Amino acid sequence: MNKEQLLIIGSGSQARYVIENVHQRNEFRIVGIADIETSKNVGKLINGVYIICTIDDIENYFPPDAGRIIVAYGDNSKKREIVRHLQKLGYKFATIISPKAYISETAKIGEGVIINPMAIIMPNAYIGKHVILHSHVVVEHDCYISDYANLSPGVSLGGNVWVEEGAYLYTGSSVIPKIHIGAWAVVGAGAVVIQDVPDNTTVVGVPARVIKSNKRGGKDGR
Ligand SMILES: CC(C)(COP(=O)(O)OP(=O)(O)OC[C@H]1O[C@@H](n2cnc3c(N)ncnc32)[C@H](O)[C@@H]1OP(=O)(O)O)[C@@H](O)C(=O)NCCC(=O)NCCS
Repeated sequence: MNKEQLLIIGSGSQARYVIENVHQRNEFRIVGIADIETSKNVGKLINGVYIICTIDDIENYFPPDAGRIIVAYGDNSKKREIVRHLQKLGYKFATIISPKAYISETAKIGEGVIINPMAIIMPNAYIGKHVILHSHVVVEHDCYISDYANLSPGVSLGGNVWVEEGAYLYTGSSVIPKIHIGAWAVVGAGAVVIQDVPDNTTVVGVPARVIKSNKRGGKDGR
């Protein structure tokens, strides 16, 4: 089979998820990694894939018509910047889904999304662009996950939960049905959210309470 080529943007843990998901699905041919932080890593091997360039010289190594790219990076705000930059250069984004995830046939999944093993996406859920869903995330029926949101391992959303752009829901947090999680909000590990979370705020605990306001769009909302 003639597989489409894929370049991974970013060399951290998310790149390793992508490598494994792609190998298991056998969908793309990974040609390398472009490092986001530094040229010092060029030539290094990450789980069998070489870092071949940096994001600054990507066009010399993998021009936009060479295949697809995936931005594998954990800082939602920086990820949005990188995606916008690469979009302007004409790149097309892959969607990387573990074959061990369950995706309802009526769910909709945007471009640039990464979905890890054992994630479960139920009927009529919508997953926006460049979202990451880690292992064992449950997105129940009719949830709406906006672009650049990041759901850590074991996050569980009841039905009809709405997550706005760039929100981080950290490990093992749960959200009851019909709740609205604001843009760039942060939900702490283990929190149980039973009320709407305003934009740019951090909530923690059971039940979740606001502990701080965050700078709009920064890392972890800060
Ligand atoms: C929510 C979180 C981001 C807050 O981090 P922070 O802004 O640096 O907050 P701080 O560590 O300054 O804590 C502020 C207060 O909230 C409490 N707190 C922080 N996280 C908490 C949590 N998850 N549950 C309950 N209380 C928490 C702290 O004990 C502290 O309380 P105090 O003021 O009474 O001492 C962080 O604690 C967290 O939950 N991180 C999870 C990371 C994760 O799961 N990553 C997975 C990536 S795959």
